This record gives sequence, structure tokens and C-alpha cells, in this order.
Amino acid sequence: MLCEARHPVQGNAAAMSAHQAEFVRIRSSSPARTRELGRLLGERLEPGDVLALAGELGAGKTELVRGVAAGLGIPPAAVRSPTFTLVNRYQGERGTLVHVDAYRLGGPQALLELGLEQVFVPEAAVCVEWAPRVAAALPAARLEIELEHAGARTRLLRLRPHGARARALLQALAAAGQLQPAEGAAPEGGRACG
Ligand SMILES: Nc1ncnc2c1ncn2[C@@H]1O[C@H](COP(=O)(O)OP(=O)(O)OP(=O)(O)O)[C@@H](O)[C@H]1O
Ligand SMILES: [Mg+2]
Repeated sequence: MLCEARHPVQGNAAAMSAHQAEFVRIRSSSPARTRELGRLLGERLEPGDVLALAGELGAGKTELVRGVAAGLGIPPAAVRSPTFTLVNRYQGERGTLVHVDAYRLGGPQALLELGLEQVFVPEAAVCVEWAPRVAAALPAARLEIELEHAGARTRLLRLRPHGARARALLQALAAAGQLQPAEGAAPEGGRACG
């Protein structure tokens, strides 16, 4: 996995750290890599954390959620795209996961009508696919993850933290060695990681 962090202010690229970064980019070379990143996040998620996932059809949002599930002690194969049920809830050994797919929701109002108190329950971490469709109904504190096709088995993930918890999650990924500089991969003005 390659990644790059960009900072909102000018400065020494080498001095940047993940928790200060405006966003971090990670290149995933396979579905397994994307699930692994999800697992690393899932292992660190706490109740109340929200992952807001964006990206077109087949970008890998559900693959990432399968990894998150694994990190929470939920069998990844149990995670189905909730397109028809809109919201699924899974109980794992390490925590509870609520998985929302907003693809068929008309907009934020539709999510509000579902009952946000049913979705953003305090005991669960929440993953929302197609989050931009319902952005206005999401908690402000969230880790946004945008997945983009970059080849048949390659995806670019852009992780943008909003709030202290999301920044702490990025910092934890850095501590797990996911955001360490990769030799020869540092682009000008940013930081490359692998
Ligand atoms: N690096 C990668 N990361 C994730 N998925 C990948 C990758 N390379 C190939 N894929 C494939 O892309 C597909 C991603 O499907 P997935 O259901 O996760 O997408 P999605 O973003 O949830 O789509 P939808 O909007 O339909 O829910 C899978 O078939 C997966 O095997
Ligand atoms: Mg999906």
C-alpha cells in the first residue's frame, strides 16, 4: 500500500504527521489490501465512531466494511451490501457495527425519516456507504473515506478526518505502520507512505 499525506499549510513535508494532515491517500492494490486497511481501522474503532464512505459503484466500499467487521470480531462474510435493507447491524466480539447503504435513499431527509437514533446508536460504530447522498444528516465528527478506481485491482483511498477521534484513528494507522514513508515514493509537497 502506498499513501501520501497532505497538509493544509506549507511546511517541511518530513515533519508532517498523520493526525495533523488534511487528508491521507492510500493506494490499495487488491481487495485483500482494502479489507486489511478496514480491519486495522475496525480494530481501533470505538462506539460512536463514524466512517463516511464515498466512491462509485464497485469502488470497494463494502470490501472495506468487511475488513472493519473483521476488526470488530464480526465474520466478514456476514457483511452483505445492505442496499435493500438500508441498514444492517452486526454484533461482534469487540463491538457493534451498524452498516448503512444510502444508495437508494433520496437524500438526508430519508435518513432522518429512518430515525437517526436507530442508526447512530451510542454503542455502535457506524459505516455509511454513499455518505455524500446523506451528508447533511451525518454527525460532523467522522472519518471520510473516498475510494476511487485506479485500475482493475487498484483503488485510491482518500481519508479525510473531521474531529479529534477521526484524527486519532489516522494517527493509530500511522502508528500501525500504514502511513510510514516508502522509499522513493515521496511526491513533491506531500508524503508518500506504504
Ligand atoms: N483494491 C481493491 N479494493 C477493493 N475492491 C477491489 C479492489 N480491486 C478489485 N476490487 C473489486 O471491486 C469490487 C468492489 O465491490 P464493493 O461491493 O466493495 O464495491 P462498493 O463500493 O461497495 O459498490 P456499491 O456502490 O455497489 O455498494 C469487488 O468485486 C472487489 O473484488
Ligand atoms: Mg457496497
